[in-house]
Amino acid sequence: MSRQPLLWLTLVFALGKGTLFDFHVIPTRQNFQNGESLCRGLGYDGLAIISSPEIYRYALQLTKPVRTNNETCGVYVGLRRNPQTHMMTWDDGSSSAEDSPWFANVSLYPKLHYGVMHRVGNLASSHGTWEQYSLCGNHNNLPTKALGVTALGQQPDGVSSSLSVVKVPSYLECVLLCGRDYRCRAAEFNSDLLTCMTLGPGSYTGLTANGQSQTFVRNGYF
Ligand SMILES: *[C@@H]1O[C@H](CO)[C@@H](O)[C@H](O)[C@H]1NC(C)=O
Ligand SMILES: *[C@@H]1O[C@H](CO)[C@@H](O)[C@H](O)[C@H]1NC(C)=O
Repeated sequence: MSRQPLLWLTLVFALGKGTLFDFHVIPTRQNFQNGESLCRGLGYDGLAIISSPEIYRYALQLTKPVRTNNETCGVYVGLRRNPQTHMMTWDDGSSSAEDSPWFANVSLYPKLHYGVMHRVGNLASSHGTWEQYSLCGNHNNLPTKALGVTALGQQPDGVSSSLSVVKVPSYLECVLLCGRDYRCRAAEFNSDLLTCMTLGPGSYTGLTANGQSQTFVRNGYF
């Protein structure tokens, strides 16, 4: 990590529809399937997809009253084990990010098929039969807000792989691109090349000086 001073800025970008987050907490307890049905009955697509760090943190706040209300109950979310890949997968088909805040290693519990936000806030897998609260949400047009800081004159170092490298006109476009991918954890804009490189969890080791670069470092799940 370079010792050069960073300019710490908080950037908030909201794209698309008026409501950033349209979630609903069902404050009564039922199993996963019934929670999902209740959500559909209320006009939601189902249980909420909280795949990006920003959505997750919002859901963490929103569900806090019910999670702290009953020491045994968490909140069902739109996450379940894919029968083919056996991976915990969001209901819009996206895989859970590598840095997902799991309560325990889900690979060790292959018989637990349903996703829940544990009462302490981490994500966990569950039998789905226990009566818990539910968080409803829609599955399309998920919020693309990205929160993070800008490192001026810095580029990612030790990059092992990237999510995408595309031409963009500006740094802001590059940040917006990062917000649109729930896996993006950093995005580097090069003002000479007009390129934007987005990086997933754990795919770089730090930052290093480059006068032509600005890097957006997105806040993680906590
Ligand atoms: C989780 O468990 C699997 C299977 O035992 C193992 O391969 C993997 O390394 C574990 N992951 C972590 C983060 O401990
Ligand atoms: C917490 O939830 C469990 C399971 O539904 C229920 O049996 C228990 O009575 C609840 N406790 C409180 C204090 O509401």
